[in-house]
Amino acid sequence: MSAGPERRRPGPEQPERGRSGRERLFLALWPEPAVRSALAGLARERLPQVGRAVSAANLHLTLVFLGTVETSARERLERACAEIAFAPFALTLSRLGCWARAGVAWSAPEHVPDALSDLVDRLRSAAAGAGIAVEARPFRAHVTLARRVAASAARAAALRTEHPPVHWEAREFVLARSRTDARGARYEVLRAWPRQASDDG
Ligand code: 2AM
Repeated sequence: MSAGPERRRPGPEQPERGRSGRERLFLALWPEPAVRSALAGLARERLPQVGRAVSAANLHLTLVFLGTVETSARERLERACAEIAFAPFALTLSRLGCWARAGVAWSAPEHVPDALSDLVDRLRSAAAGAGIAVEARPFRAHVTLARRVAASAARAAALRTEHPPVHWEAREFVLARSRTDARGARYEVLRAWPRQASDDG
């Protein structure tokens, strides 16, 4: 099983660094290890040689893509996120699909729970309130399993199937940072809400 993304725990012993400037950020649901492992296995089994598989540690469901964000806006957003009431909800991923133009293959829920749509609405409002311009296009819940998928429309349609359900209990949402280096995109979870009792940041 792959380790999860790096999680920063800023605290007295680990002062927060790099908070000046601009960062590429997004809000997401980050699956627990068993869900990540199930999704990575699904990609190996059902999408062999389809693009480049997303590493298990990077698998996530984007709630709101924020783009490049200034530190001051990030701080306003973090304060707003801390005020959002969040109740855990269940999510079942069971559909495989592909967006040919974006070149991504994904797994998605058959039904998007109201709790998930409501959370996205509240997070979009929080981002807008923090001065971050967010896209108005409809939310399309998905976990990207492979990128750089060279698919014709016909092949994309052929990839559209059901898969054995993967059950996921969403217990938190996170603010994540995306960085690109020679090996590709790397994601880092910066904060999670609701704060757990063990959090020291
Ligand atoms: P994707 O998985 O569908 O590619 C970090 O890059 C996350 O933000 C990814 O989950 C990615 O979605 C999403 N993302 C990246 N660029 C985006 C954009 N321009 N609009 C919406 N979502 C984007």
